[in-house]
Amino acid sequence: MSTTQPDSAWNRDNPYPARLRSQYPLTSAAAVKQVHHVEVELGDSGLHYLPGDTLAVRIENDPALAAEVLELCGLTGDAELEHLLTIRYELTQAHPGFYKYYASCCHNAVLQDLVADPVKLRSYMEHRQIVDILREFPAKLSADQLLSCLRQLQDRQYSIASSQRLMPDAVALTVGLVQFSHDGHARSGAGSSYLSQRVTAASRLQIYINSNANFRLPQDPAAPVIMIGPGTGIAPFRAFLQERQATGAVGRNWLFSGNRHRNEDFLYGSELTAWQQSGLLTRLDVAFSRDQPERIHVQHLLQQHAADVFAWLQDGAHVYVCGDAKHMAEDVQKALLALIEQQGRLDANAARQYLVGLRQHKRYQRDVY
Ligand SMILES: Cc1cc2nc3c(=O)[nH]c(=O)nc-3n(C[C@H](O)[C@H](O)[C@H](O)COP(=O)(O)OP(=O)(O)OC[C@H]3O[C@@H](n4cnc5c(N)ncnc54)[C@H](O)[C@@H]3O)c2cc1C
Ligand SMILES: NC(=O)c1ccc[n+]([C@@H]2O[C@H](COP(=O)([O-])OP(=O)(O)OC[C@H]3O[C@@H](n4cnc5c(N)ncnc54)[C@H](OP(=O)(O)O)[C@@H]3O)[C@@H](O)[C@H]2O)c1
Repeated sequence: MSTTQPDSAWNRDNPYPARLRSQYPLTSAAAVKQVHHVEVELGDSGLHYLPGDTLAVRIENDPALAAEVLELCGLTGDAELEHLLTIRYELTQAHPGFYKYYASCCHNAVLQDLVADPVKLRSYMEHRQIVDILREFPAKLSADQLLSCLRQLQDRQYSIASSQRLMPDAVALTVGLVQFSHDGHARSGAGSSYLSQRVTAASRLQIYINSNANFRLPQDPAAPVIMIGPGTGIAPFRAFLQERQATGAVGRNWLFSGNRHRNEDFLYGSELTAWQQSGLLTRLDVAFSRDQPERIHVQHLLQQHAADVFAWLQDGAHVYVCGDAKHMAEDVQKALLALIEQQGRLDANAARQYLVGLRQHKRYQRDVY
């Protein structure tokens, strides 16, 4: 769990107004999911970060979305309210409180039934943003009613993708753009679209560092590391590798990463290949899930190289997993357990104990979201 840096002048209560240094796509226009590299200036902030930390960003909504919300509620043209919705209120992530208040404001029986069924509500919420619900169940609201349905806009967190030893005055992020369509309307995630599409050189990004003591490189620079991070899960490992290079750490580095197509979305592909050639990356195994008829994911590569992975573990390797919590992290854990069981000639219980032992010794760390 990350915590705000307590000793910094810049924190959740007082974020640092940072300039954007650069922002460019890491994916081609054809990619299923757009991912951007974003660099933010730390200027004279004195902010410090370590590989494994995350950057919290106080985001802003798309003003066009705020206008759409107002229009749906019959409040078109209230410029002050539109600005307030843009900077202060959560307009994308729906939450049970929203459904509850909104159902009571618009006296809609279908919505009230939904609120009474938490399981149904959860799956309903996953596929709709607040604006989609306003469109599906239209009602005229007063400004006070609307604001009492909404909650405060949450800061978004991004794994830091740089080492401060290499980039003392800036911080890099790897931002996957959340984009989908609902009932013919194009929708985006608030934070990822802010960072990928709306920030400009003139913007000031409100930021602070969340330190994460539970996602750290080994103290012993000679210890081997195995990093598993498909998609945006690559972000902290770019920071880890820059750090291992900058400190001259002699430990071996093995990265399992990947994405959908080598030609469209191999994130930091040329850097990783160069690190493989220079020897910083002892091994690089990349799963391009959709470059062949059968899906191939990082856990399949772990299985394929089970004997070597287990040998690295026996040599004291630290294992790190970053990225999707919903499916990837669990599938990777299953693959690790299976290879420990098979290669270590252990039963399932003993394999679990082996992994518990790794975790207790901080040799199995996850940063999943
Ligand atoms: C510790 C940590 C580290 C992280 N690191 C990174 C990182 O390095 N890179 C990165 O990109 N992200 C990272 N994230 C995730 C990031 O914080 C945001 O959650 C992410 O950018 C999405 O936020 P958003 O504001 O764009 O989307 P939101 O505005 O929060 O929108 C999400 C909402 O949209 C809806 N939705 C989303 N997808 C669909 C769909 N397909 N169909 C229908 N509805 C949908 C859902 O209702 C969902 O609640 C990290 C998160 C944590 C906690
Ligand atoms: N809650 C949050 O804050 C938040 C924020 C951002 C993202 N996310 C979630 O995190 C997920 C990861 O986002 P991302 O951009 O890093 O990844 P992504 O773009 O969804 O996927 C990256 C790669 O992982 C593969 N993959 C899919 N399922 C897998 C599995 N079970 N095991 C291993 N690999 C798998 C994908 O393959 P295929 O798709 O081809 O199978 C793809 O090649 C997203 O799906 C999103 O829902 C959550």
